[in-house]
Amino acid sequence: MNNTNKINIAIDGPSGAGKSTIAKLLAADFGFIYVDTGAMYRAIGLYILRKGLTAEDKPAIIDSLKEIEVNIAYVDGAQHIYLNGEDVSGLIRTETVSQYASKVSAIPEVRAFLLALQRDLAAKNSVIMDGRDIGTVILPDAEVKIFLTAADTARAERRYKELIEKGQDVTMESVLENIRLRDKNDSERAAAPLKPADDAVLVDTTELDLQQSVEAMKSIIVEKMKHGV
Ligand code: DC
Repeated sequence: MNNTNKINIAIDGPSGAGKSTIAKLLAADFGFIYVDTGAMYRAIGLYILRKGLTAEDKPAIIDSLKEIEVNIAYVDGAQHIYLNGEDVSGLIRTETVSQYASKVSAIPEVRAFLLALQRDLAAKNSVIMDGRDIGTVILPDAEVKIFLTAADTARAERRYKELIEKGQDVTMESVLENIRLRDKNDSERAAAPLKPADDAVLVDTTELDLQQSVEAMKSIIVEKMKHGV
C-alpha cells in the first residue's frame, strides 16, 4: 500500500465486458468509490446530440466544450452524472448516446477536458475507475490494473438482455453490430485507444458468470494488496 493508504484500481476493457457491474460490486465490497468514466463521455455525447450536431462535426464539438460542465456525485452510494446541473444518469443509457459517446471520445480535446476531473477523483479517494484508458493514460501509477474482456458475441448477448429488461426496443443483431462498431472506434482511434496497459492483468469473462467474474477480479486485487502495492 502506498504511504497515503489510498489505492487506485484501473479497470479497462471493451463495451459490455461487465466492467461497470463488476466494478460497482467490488467498490462496495472494498469500500472504495466507483468512478464510471464512460458516463462522462456519454454526458458530452448527449449534449452534442441534443444540440443537433453530428458526432463528426469536430470543430463544433470542441467549441461546445466551453458550454459544458460535467460533475459526478454519489447518492446512496450510486454515481449520478450531471450535465450542466441536470441529472442525466438515466438519459445517457441509450444506444444512440453510446454511439455519440464513442465518437466524441475520439477527439483529443474532449479527452483532455475530462482528464482533470478523473485524476482529481483518484487523487482524493480510493477509487475503482472503469473506462478505456485508465491504466494507460489517466492513472498510469494505479496500484492495480485489470483489462476485462470477453468475446463480442457474449458481450452482445449480455447487453441485449439488459436493454430488453429496461424495455428498450432492440434486436440482437443491432446490439452486436453496435458493439463491433464501438470496439472498432474505441481501439482504432489515435487518441488513447483501448488497449491493455503493459502491467495490466487480463481477465476474460466469456465463460464466466457474474459471480465467477467478481471472484476472479477480487482475488487479483487481494493478491496485489497483499504484496504491498
Ligand atoms: O463504458 P461506456 O460504454 O459507458 O463508454 C461509452 C463510450 O465512451 C465508449 O464507447 C468509449 C468512450 N470511453 C472512452 O473513450 N474512454 C473512457 N475512459 C471511457 C469511455
